Amino acid sequence: MAQNNIQKIFVSIFVAELLHRVVLLSGSGLSPWALQKDPLAVKRRVAEQTGCHGDLVEDDIAPCLRSKPLRDLLAVHLDPPRFLPGFAPFADGAVLSSTLSTSMQDTGLVGHERHGPGFMLSEFPDRDLLFGLTTTESYLDLSAQDLEFGFNETRRDRILRTYVRNSYYFHLNEIFSTLKNEYTDWEKPVQNPLNVRDSTLEVLSDGHTVSPLIKLGYLHAANGGRTYFMHFRHQSGERDFPQALNFSQGPKTSVNSDYNPADGQ
Ligand SMILES: *[C@@H]1O[C@H](CO)[C@@H](O)[C@H](O)[C@H]1NC(C)=O
Ligand SMILES: *[C@@H]1O[C@H](CO)[C@@H](O)[C@H](O)[C@H]1NC(C)=O
Repeated sequence: MAQNNIQKIFVSIFVAELLHRVVLLSGSGLSPWALQKDPLAVKRRVAEQTGCHGDLVEDDIAPCLRSKPLRDLLAVHLDPPRFLPGFAPFADGAVLSSTLSTSMQDTGLVGHERHGPGFMLSEFPDRDLLFGLTTTESYLDLSAQDLEFGFNETRRDRILRTYVRNSYYFHLNEIFSTLKNEYTDWEKPVQNPLNVRDSTLEVLSDGHTVSPLIKLGYLHAANGGRTYFMHFRHQSGERDFPQALNFSQGPKTSVNSDYNPADGQ
């Protein structure tokens, strides 16, 4: 998430000129977990739990919060919907343009796109961008048990429905059916629990992290920027998830990365 915050800062007109190059690893401002779309709900929870009351929209509760001890602030507990952030940047109309939040679902990879959050967040062609991904960006979305033993299609459907409902606004059934269809390996005669787990990891990884980041890289290149792509691949071919989990918490073995200037296509 820190990456994402940095990206938001980067496109903010206040500090953009202080930064010369950008590295985005495993995330961008276009990810559904990157922006808090309902900041007032967060404000309400913070107000309730700290006793800093006031009009939800009109009142600034910051002066009250400043008078609270640190432990009270750290004790504030948010319960965000699955796959969505709790504390995260939001479009306040000052540091972050308010049009950023209006539709995070603009998409369509068209080079002449000249509007929408994707375009806004990639509008820094005068500065180089390196963006990087690991092979699977969704290990942390599943429990250790699900990762180890896999699960059946009923459970997969439940996870995907939750993901779609929390990440998209429109055409939820169509998106759900399309994802299920596209991410089923029809060449495998039987969907065993481990196959189902793997395809679920791919949907989530592609959906919330990979495709938004690639889109951003694409738009940066299409805007005339110099763009580099890195794929951080580890233990490929080996499906040892407990190890992979350990690994994903901190690189410990050799890196196999490719730097390819993305040419925008
Ligand atoms: C799928 O697994 C769940 C437990 O995770 C179980 O309750 C359910 O009966 C299973 N469904 C099918 C169709 O096997
Ligand atoms: C991490 O790796 C250690 C061995 O290196 C292993 O004992 C442990 O179970 C692993 N943890 C997880 C969460 O897989």
